[in-house]
Amino acid sequence: MNQINPKISTASIFIPVFGYNSLAESITKALNCELGKLDLHSFPDEETLVRIESKIDAKNVIFVGSLDHPNPKIFPIFSAAETARKLGANKVTLVSPYLPYMRQDKSFHEGEAVSSRQFAKLFSLFFDELITMDPHLHRWHSLSEIFQIPTQVLHAEEKIAAWIQSNVKDAILIGPDQESEQWLSRIAEKIKVPYLILEKTRIGDKNVKIAIPNLKSFSNQNPILIDDIISSGTTMIQAVRLLKESSKLLPICITVHGIFADSSYNKLLEAGAGMVVSCNTILHESNQIDVTDVFIESLRSQVYG
Ligand code: R5P
Repeated sequence: MNQINPKISTASIFIPVFGYNSLAESITKALNCELGKLDLHSFPDEETLVRIESKIDAKNVIFVGSLDHPNPKIFPIFSAAETARKLGANKVTLVSPYLPYMRQDKSFHEGEAVSSRQFAKLFSLFFDELITMDPHLHRWHSLSEIFQIPTQVLHAEEKIAAWIQSNVKDAILIGPDQESEQWLSRIAEKIKVPYLILEKTRIGDKNVKIAIPNLKSFSNQNPILIDDIISSGTTMIQAVRLLKESSKLLPICITVHGIFADSSYNKLLEAGAGMVVSCNTILHESNQIDVTDVFIESLRSQVYG
């Protein structure tokens, strides 16, 4: 049973957005908090009208919903935050398990925007706090370099490690690029399995070259590819094709955030992935790794702390 402090718990209201009702419901159940309701009305011209249907008063308002496929969501979420504030919210937080716009962290060509900085600046105008999971940080070392509000980063590592341990025997973890080594090495250490990092060169949005350094065969181990994001799927598809040459066993692909643009989920299976598994940071049929508890545990200290 949860230790409940009714005085504090009633001060927090969790409002699901963009279909993340199940995550918000699990959080409110576990923390014995109020579940709020928001209506997003779409006009024929595709403009959105936000209406918060719950009493806000001076509560802490925590919206719960990922900003994957972000463009149609960005104005509505900012409008929701502003509406909560106008209704008297004490503090406005977003729990966005997937944080978009983090990959453009540099102007690669003359005249290009650094979208991650711009997005963070805008976000910081509307929200008091952000809670997210494994954002794609490459050139930025932490979200505090670009966000002007407190941010909290949670990790899916423990849940991924537990899933592998209970579902795959004799695994070898494979990261598609150097950036993946940071979390791959930690997962490998937790479950005491070997890991290998591939060499990736990105040529364009949908064009990457991947090579296996010190090519070796691992025919007796189950290859598990792990990446933080599957977006266009190009990285994973190329890696799967390459691994098929070195292993008789079909590779399993695991990702934290399964965006799966351009039907890349099906394309990955067609390319030869034995299974494609994602965390439920973005709603998708491949969600097999439930990270809800990670959010609950972090929010517990904020709601009752
Ligand atoms: C890149 O550095 C990331 O870790 C992923 O490998 C990449 O974002 C995946 O993108 P895509 O699916 O479009 O290849």
